[in-house]
Amino acid sequence: MTDPIIKITDPCKPLDIDLSRPLEIEVGCGKGQFLAKRAKENPDCDFLGIERMLERVRLFAGKCLRGGLSNARVLRLEALYTFHYLLPEHHARTVYVFFPDPWPKKKHHSHRLFGPLFLNALWKRLEVGGKLEFATDHKEYFETVCECFAGDSRFERVEAMPRPKEVWTEFETMFRSQGLPVYSAAWRSLEADDSPLEPLKIPPEAEPREGIARRCCRFCHNEG
Ligand SMILES: C[S@@+](CC[C@H](N)C(=O)[O-])C[C@H]1O[C@@H](n2cnc3c(N)ncnc32)[C@H](O)[C@@H]1O
Repeated sequence: MTDPIIKITDPCKPLDIDLSRPLEIEVGCGKGQFLAKRAKENPDCDFLGIERMLERVRLFAGKCLRGGLSNARVLRLEALYTFHYLLPEHHARTVYVFFPDPWPKKKHHSHRLFGPLFLNALWKRLEVGGKLEFATDHKEYFETVCECFAGDSRFERVEAMPRPKEVWTEFETMFRSQGLPVYSAAWRSLEADDSPLEPLKIPPEAEPREGIARRCCRFCHNEG
């Protein structure tokens, strides 16, 4: 079996995606508990995890290799960049974003994934009628993300997927064991004016920094 970890030799070259097969993507897939299970149960679909922490990428890749999951791959790269530049247009069937880092402090809100730039790139990569599934334990971030989609006429809110134990991610398992609430929602992409994406201009305060990369969430302090 080929290595599930996608090697990037040229960061400007679009990913090699088989357009004859459906594609599902998980942003911030962590150790891949959810995506590996989905890949096992859906051999006729391809699955791409995007995760910037090396240790988690390796753990997900190990799950793919042990499970013989030739339909699952993982990319160690920043998600907004990947969506903006490297994915084919209007091909992804579903994008999952589960328990993204909420960056609860106001001064860190610019690090959040959801915002107009991500919604632009997301819409461009989803097939028309494709879905974004979102879950978080963080009420304020949940409400902010819902407002963000509500203000974008290219998406309509639909019923979120059910969340039985079988689909829980590592973080969901941890949050539920602590009795924390989980908020979930989903949106479907609609036909709309398909203009090209503007080149990304990252504000200086949102540029990745060593300290930020090392403490990307509330729980992991030492992974590189
Ligand atoms: C709180 S964890 C949740 C992991 C997994 N989704 C789960 O529910 O168990 C968030 C994950 O997203 C990854 N991540 C955060 N921002 C990212 C980005 N911009 N690009 C790629 N991965 C990102 C982090 O490295 C981390 O593994």
